[in-house]
Amino acid sequence: MLVSFLQLLAISSLVAAAPSRRANHVVHERRSVEPRNWMKSRRVDPYKVLPLRIGLAQQNLEQLEELLMAISSPDSPSFGQHWSPERVADHFAPSENTISTVTEWLTTEGFRGDRIRVSPSKGWIDVNATVSEIEALLSAEYHVFTHPSGHEQISCESYSLPDHIREHVELIKPTVHFKHRIPDAPALQKRIPDALALQKRGNSTKLGAPSKFNGPKTNGTIVPASNPFPITTCDQFIVPDCLRELYEIDYKPKASEKNTFGIVEFTQQAYLGSDLDIFFSLFSHDQEHKRPELVSIDGGVVQTFNQGFEFNGESDLDLEYAMTLVNPLEIKLLQTGDLIEGAGFDNWLDAVDKSFCTFDGGDVPGEDGIYPDPAPGGFNHPESCGIIKPPHVVSISYGQDEDEVPVAYAKRQCHEYGKLGMMGSSVLYASGDNGVAGFGGFCPGGVQFNPDFPASCPFVTAVGATQMVPGSTVQDPEVACETVIISGGGFSNIFPMPEYQEHAVKKYLHDNPPPYTAAQYSNSGKVRAFPDLSANGANYVTAIDGNLFLVFGTSASAPVVASMIALINDARLSHDKGPIGFLNPLIYKDKFADLFNDITSGSNPGCGTNGFPAAKGWDPVTGVGTPNFTKLLKAWANL
Ligand SMILES: *[C@@H]1O[C@H](CO)[C@@H](O)[C@H](O)[C@H]1NC(C)=O
Ligand SMILES: *[C@@H]1O[C@H](CO)[C@@H](O)[C@H](O)[C@H]1NC(C)=O
Ligand SMILES: *[C@@H]1O[C@H](CO)[C@@H](O)[C@H](O)[C@H]1NC(C)=O
Ligand SMILES: *[C@@H]1O[C@H](CO)[C@@H](O)[C@H](O)[C@H]1NC(C)=O
Repeated sequence: MLVSFLQLLAISSLVAAAPSRRANHVVHERRSVEPRNWMKSRRVDPYKVLPLRIGLAQQNLEQLEELLMAISSPDSPSFGQHWSPERVADHFAPSENTISTVTEWLTTEGFRGDRIRVSPSKGWIDVNATVSEIEALLSAEYHVFTHPSGHEQISCESYSLPDHIREHVELIKPTVHFKHRIPDAPALQKRIPDALALQKRGNSTKLGAPSKFNGPKTNGTIVPASNPFPITTCDQFIVPDCLRELYEIDYKPKASEKNTFGIVEFTQQAYLGSDLDIFFSLFSHDQEHKRPELVSIDGGVVQTFNQGFEFNGESDLDLEYAMTLVNPLEIKLLQTGDLIEGAGFDNWLDAVDKSFCTFDGGDVPGEDGIYPDPAPGGFNHPESCGIIKPPHVVSISYGQDEDEVPVAYAKRQCHEYGKLGMMGSSVLYASGDNGVAGFGGFCPGGVQFNPDFPASCPFVTAVGATQMVPGSTVQDPEVACETVIISGGGFSNIFPMPEYQEHAVKKYLHDNPPPYTAAQYSNSGKVRAFPDLSANGANYVTAIDGNLFLVFGTSASAPVVASMIALINDARLSHDKGPIGFLNPLIYKDKFADLFNDITSGSNPGCGTNGFPAAKGWDPVTGVGTPNFTKLLKAWANL
């Protein structure tokens, strides 16, 4: 991009005039947590050009929850009347008024019309601008932050907008967004030469990278394949038949050609075909040599050059159990991100909803993969925008700490889950494996509980983990999982409480008042609480890298619950009904409470506390409990 000398002169005078003209500015976004272990080393060069992206406010978002409830509540006259993607896109797209108001503001601020570009989706306005132009426009100061390892990133602490512009803008990038964790890969601008170099020099910092990855755990136990795994040893070895017994899953799909079930994996996480076959040979003979249908998103590949528990554990676990439980329904593997950059949550959402995808840069570099990726070995093609329809059920066993996610980014993504619900998709996320703490036991300030996102978004279904008590049978009640991993749950610091869970959460807080202060958790009683429900997450016998490991995690619970929902959808589709869609309004209905096995024992310790106890009714450890599939099927198949 070219900035003429005259323009630069104009900019400098604008900067000089700034203070008085900024009087009506109001702070729009402020960084919630100051960078740790990063040094604010210097101001950013004022002539450096940044691609400024202004995310425009969508219209009618205030109606989203109500519309979604009307479509997803069993007693509502519009239950099940899902919207087409086009109708959803039109209803929420930024208004012409928003586009023209923001464009006019930029023009008044001295940006010539030919520098301003509205994205094809109308969701974003892009301008290339120098740092000094941006600092004047947003009343912000950009600094370079340096990490002891030599990594650098730029960011501002807050930025402001004129009062009359704020309602038209969701977020602006790059601004307050900051990657707090120590990077373990070259920064994006220092591209890596090829996939082999990736192995030697560093791995992507994105969701699928082993060092970043909050995946399932093993306690190192390798189980001999000769073990017969009878139902009597489910307390030590969970195999598919144990889940069938625990949750009374007895259903053979008959409408597979109409049904869709997606599992998201982030490269470099990958399944090994040989592992699936080991598992199938033991537990699902007729599926040997069967593979999921690969949907490659942004160059997603099932890589095999890096192998081991930390690369294959998640994908092997998800696919072995889900494929077995829904056999013969074929699973769509939404493999997201190339080997060089990897991907974030927005990338898979781009692929299932082209109106969310901007084609030209809506994603956040710290969080998402930015495509096309011109680095050697990178996916140098346009982003995968709207390449498949949203599957009826999607299971995602990945998450990140809520305190690391920029608030505006989290909200925008959360709204997108709501829109997928409007279209009839059930989106299930694992609730995290660290109790009330964050990834690796991290608690901001040492004491603050650190919920998991996207589980904390009210428009996804968050799945916690239970376990069998050692020595118990599949007929005995389960307890909250506290072996090797601890079921993630708690209260969001970002999202308000959705109506559907108000009654259940208030009852919990009344009956079990937590002995914690606002310094520890968001204790207003008016915020999103999670998980919504749970399933077993301990001792899964899983073929990984040629061995049978015992695996633990909400990573296991999410695909198991998703499998049950896929089976319920099969029953609905075979009766010419639509998919069940957004689940939470159903899960919390009093009249459906006895479809779940209430979990009342155990807790989710973390941050030096005992966390929250499981209790009668909903609790922030196991949600409403584990499904009784037989009952769920009966109640939900004919709604
Ligand atoms: C910004 O600059 C980049 C790189 O020169 C160019 O590809 C892009 O089209 C420019 N964007 C706008 C909105 O002018
Ligand atoms: C990338 O990950 C692999 C597997 O964990 C590891 O062996 C390798 O050392 C990593 N590379 C770097 C530079 O961290
Ligand atoms: C792993 O956990 C199981 C029970 O959950 C236990 O029987 C086994 O001894 C543990 N293995 C190790 C190595 O700790
Ligand atoms: C699950 O539902 C079935 C059918 O209603 C019932 O027979 C069974 O007892 C239930 N299981 C549990 C553990 O409540």
